Amino acid sequence: MSTQSTTTPDELVTLTIADADPAPRTLAHDVHDGLTQPFKQLPPKHLYDDHGSDLFAQICELPEYYPTRTERSILVARSAELAERTGAVDLVELGAGFATKTRVLLDAMQAGGTLRRFVPFDVSAPTVRQCSGEISAAYGIPVHGIVGDFERDLDLVPEPIGPRIVAILGGTLGNLPPGSRRHFLGRLRGLLGEEGRMLIGIDLVKDPAVIEAAYNDGAGVTSAFNRNVLTMLNRELGADFPVDEYEHVAFFDRRHEWIDIRLRAVRDHVVRIPALGLEVPFAAREELRTEISSKFTRERIAGDLAASGLELEDLLTDDDGLFGLALARVA
Ligand code: AVJ
Repeated sequence: MSTQSTTTPDELVTLTIADADPAPRTLAHDVHDGLTQPFKQLPPKHLYDDHGSDLFAQICELPEYYPTRTERSILVARSAELAERTGAVDLVELGAGFATKTRVLLDAMQAGGTLRRFVPFDVSAPTVRQCSGEISAAYGIPVHGIVGDFERDLDLVPEPIGPRIVAILGGTLGNLPPGSRRHFLGRLRGLLGEEGRMLIGIDLVKDPAVIEAAYNDGAGVTSAFNRNVLTMLNRELGADFPVDEYEHVAFFDRRHEWIDIRLRAVRDHVVRIPALGLEVPFAAREELRTEISSKFTRERIAGDLAASGLELEDLLTDDDGLFGLALARVA
């Protein structure tokens, strides 16, 4: 791995870059592997190219998409208490994006007089750069930004400088299938030190109609977000997906308690992907899975944590039980 650290003149911002742009390195492999499976699939991280990240930001503002605003409301209501209970001086955020919601927690840690460092970790270099500069300027604290893939580059996270919170917000954890999720949580446990806590945003199991509406919005933004992955493959790998001839499909799978998101080919055709020397046949109505997004019960998150050597300390939710923030510590 090529790792590069730079410190800016003001000495408050440090950036560690696992790879100038980690996504393309795995793209060819992921696409080759995923499109030659008996049931075609692609890992969800490839949904977030520049345009995809932009569309996701729009999703967060949609009236049907309750997770973002609900999680923010829980943070607003409970951040002071979280700062006090954990005594955290150091906040590491995986999948930080622009760390918009995180500021609520940073504000509380600063008001409590404990905040000493922020470590945003994200796959997008420009995002980490911008976020690191803004947060260090706004709070006057050192920020150590890390650009990488958090399933691969966790070893780049610096040692704790005191009690720490490792946060993964927004429901990102739900993108991992149950087995990988437990493995990943077990690895996160290694970042906590003795007194650290995990803070995990989880979407909760509820009326399927409410969940399905959030992934089938009336304005069609989620559909555009989903189909954008094909536009990205056409651009990056020279593929010839007929993007307009795929339909967005999202339904709640009650048995697995996850939203299953797919692209369905309208007609029978063959896609050519010159960069991989691959021809991929699609039958009419054949589907390609682009994402699963797990919804949790208290039992499910407690079980995942326990299997990873962690213990659910509290589950903070909104009054309607839509979304939760799981607080966990080393068992
Ligand atoms: C970023 C994984 C939390 O699953 O709700 C939103 C992604 N996909 N609409 C989610 C997403 C379609 C989102 N996560």
